[in-house]
Amino acid sequence: MTEARKQRIIVAISGATGIVYSLSLLNILRTLGIETHLVISKAGEQTRSLETDVSASQLRELADYHHAIQDIAAPISSGSFRTMGMIVVPCSMRSLGEIASGATGNLLTRAADVVLKEGRKLVLVVRETPLSNIHLRNMLTVSECGGVIFPPVVSFYTKPKSIDDIINQTIARILDQFELDAPGVVRWGEDQPESATVSASANERLASATK
Ligand SMILES: Cc1cc2nc3c(=O)[nH]c(=O)nc-3n(C[C@H](O)[C@H](O)[C@H](O)COP(=O)(O)O)c2cc1C
Repeated sequence: MTEARKQRIIVAISGATGIVYSLSLLNILRTLGIETHLVISKAGEQTRSLETDVSASQLRELADYHHAIQDIAAPISSGSFRTMGMIVVPCSMRSLGEIASGATGNLLTRAADVVLKEGRKLVLVVRETPLSNIHLRNMLTVSECGGVIFPPVVSFYTKPKSIDDIINQTIARILDQFELDAPGVVRWGEDQPESATVSASANERLASATK
């Protein structure tokens, strides 16, 4: 009897702000028993050190496998290496542009290109604001080719009480794209969030505005 194949997801970190999302994603994927293949751009390494106290080695240890950004011979560079797909989180406008053009210059964008050509799930957690027409056109191109453009936008209907709540809900919605159930996700119509500080302060603001 053949052994069941382990499910794998490629997690890529580029140099947009919000590396904290990828830390949470890697932790949740480990809990779910999904094998993770991590690739980090040079700018992603820079934002890690600017935005967190997590060292390069601590970040790598969150994944099952780490591949160097210049290693275009890594397994994730080939479509024959089967994965469920790839999540680029956060996704910079530079990496988005490279993926949209198809002229891929490093392992991160090559792996994304492979995921698209194989018809697997590619989720780009794009982060920039405001967006220029170039950014929007690149997003449309990737979307037309089957990619999912997934900006990390807060859902206030879940009544988040902390930044962790906001991050975890976003990660859970990303994992919905792969039919994976993250713990603690709030689903409209299923879970009734308790009244939260955010609504209390919203009420206070409304009261002072109408005085
Ligand atoms: C602290 C910091 C925050 C940044 N935030 C963003 C961002 O939100 N979106 C973006 O597209 N680029 C952002 N950048 C710029 C990218 O890091 C830069 O364009 C880089 O070339 C991206 O390369 P990569 O796609 O190979 O990671 C940021 C840079 C720094 C240092």
